[in-house]
Amino acid sequence: MSTAPHFDIDAKDFWADPYPALARMRRETPIAFVPQLGSTLFTRRDDIFVSEKRIDVFSSEQPAGLMTRLMGHNMMRKDGDAHMAERSIFFPAVSPRAVRAHWRAEFQAHADGILGGLIPAGGADLLADFARPLSGECLKSVTGLTNIGFSEMDAWSQGMIDGIANYSGDPAVEARCRAATAGIDAAIDDMLPVVRKAPNHSLLSVMIHGGMPEANVRHNIKLAISGGQNEPRKAIAGTIWALLTHPGQLALVRDGKIGWLAVFEEFARWISPIGMSPRRVAKAATVNGVDLEPEDRVFLMFGSANRDKAHFADADRFDLTRDTAKSIAFGAGPHFCAGAAASRAMIADVALPSVFARLKGLRLDAREPVRIGGWAFRGLFNLPVRWDA
Ligand code: HEM
Repeated sequence: MSTAPHFDIDAKDFWADPYPALARMRRETPIAFVPQLGSTLFTRRDDIFVSEKRIDVFSSEQPAGLMTRLMGHNMMRKDGDAHMAERSIFFPAVSPRAVRAHWRAEFQAHADGILGGLIPAGGADLLADFARPLSGECLKSVTGLTNIGFSEMDAWSQGMIDGIANYSGDPAVEARCRAATAGIDAAIDDMLPVVRKAPNHSLLSVMIHGGMPEANVRHNIKLAISGGQNEPRKAIAGTIWALLTHPGQLALVRDGKIGWLAVFEEFARWISPIGMSPRRVAKAATVNGVDLEPEDRVFLMFGSANRDKAHFADADRFDLTRDTAKSIAFGAGPHFCAGAAASRAMIADVALPSVFARLKGLRLDAREPVRIGGWAFRGLFNLPVRWDA
């Protein structure tokens, strides 16, 4: 029997704002079983940082898990050599070098096109009208699925994310997820002959020509779409919102005292777009006096780690002057986000400077409130703003 103490949450409150409950857990029961989630949550930064590397205990192999069942057995659900064999073929397409050489300029062209169309309107929902098309267009380029529209990219990503969090087994949610994966397979069917004939820098091309079996290429393209659309979309909108609601912090950026990368990193610490990553306990282990049993499900709570006052003073505050080196918003082990360099370029090099340079007098539209929610995946649902047309 696991000896993790139980900690009850109100699932609705936790979705609306998980941070008060997580703060109590870090203080009172840092490793706790939460019956409402059927999982043991690790909430302190150091426990997560150390445990994520112990892959013999905290395995990513979750054959019965929703991600593997619905999206296929991708590298994020593999350990050790099996994981590295795929990651080493995947990574060159999105390495910092590839981002500098190919993607940054393409991302900028996408942002310029989208903003150029928006400017005369004098107002928009920047989540729907800027962050969504920008992350969709960038991900089309990176994956190589340039034969689809950005709204398909967005809908398929959402369909898969909802599907893999469908712990209540809602058949309609599962059907949408299966429709998304079928759509992606059809788009891959169309593009495979193209990249086989004329290799390019995309993930599809790099993985196929790198010798990865076609079935695994398909699983990893789906993985890139599930993580590569929603998170940048939420981070772009969220960071703009954080700056507009903290004018003193925005002034530091406008005065050249803080760079855009520091802004994005502090936002991702403050409201981590991916709040947790699951693991399966592969063998009995004791962590900080808590016994864990094989087959227990553990959630590594990155969002909680990033508010841990052992590492971040006044952690609930959005503060651009803080040192974010201890943030684990992109993970802390062998599964460290493969898209981190692409995200930093898309958000810090392109989206934020372009929006604040081109939308003069940018301000929130007071007529419509901003909505925010989620704990596994957290972020804004809208960002109504106005500017001087
Ligand atoms: C704001 C943007 C993003 C955030 C905050 C984010 C965060 C994360 C996190 C927390 C993980 C899990 C790390 C772990 O378990 O240790 C992850 C994994 C991953 N992410 Fe991202 N991500 C973002 C954007 C992207 C993009 C744009 C792509 C693709 C182009 C991407 C591709 C991946 C992949 C493939 C993995 C699995 C890596 C592996 O298993 O080795 N992510 N990401």
